[in-house]
Amino acid sequence: MIGRLNHVAIAVPDLDAGIALYRDTLGAKVNEPQDEPDHGVTVVFIELPNTKIELLHPLGDNSPITGFLEKNPSGGIHHICYEVDDILAARDKLQASGARVLGGGEPKIGAHGKPVLFLHPKDFTGTLIELEQV
Ligand code: CO
Repeated sequence: MIGRLNHVAIAVPDLDAGIALYRDTLGAKVNEPQDEPDHGVTVVFIELPNTKIELLHPLGDNSPITGFLEKNPSGGIHHICYEVDDILAARDKLQASGARVLGGGEPKIGAHGKPVLFLHPKDFTGTLIELEQV
């Protein structure tokens, strides 16, 4: 059901430091930061030959990243994103198997303009999983 790894998202307490680390120290192609007010984050996409890294930084007062950074002050892997062909079919199959789909199970438009869903980390070996329909 799942296809390619679309991205790994890393929450960072200092966006400029994260950008400098990936661009200057690691020598990756780093894009301009994008504010995503609907998701409460500023996102920076880093393009690798086989996948992407997303740096996430809190935006606004109710960011879902704020609590994560309180628990992980130096930052950390926040979620990984797998591609699926049909997000509603994937959701129905997962829910039928007992997995919890966050946010009421209705896909939202994610940072790439495509429908996404998040799966409860307790049902997936402690990892928050994003599914993106491609
Ligand atoms: Co993501």
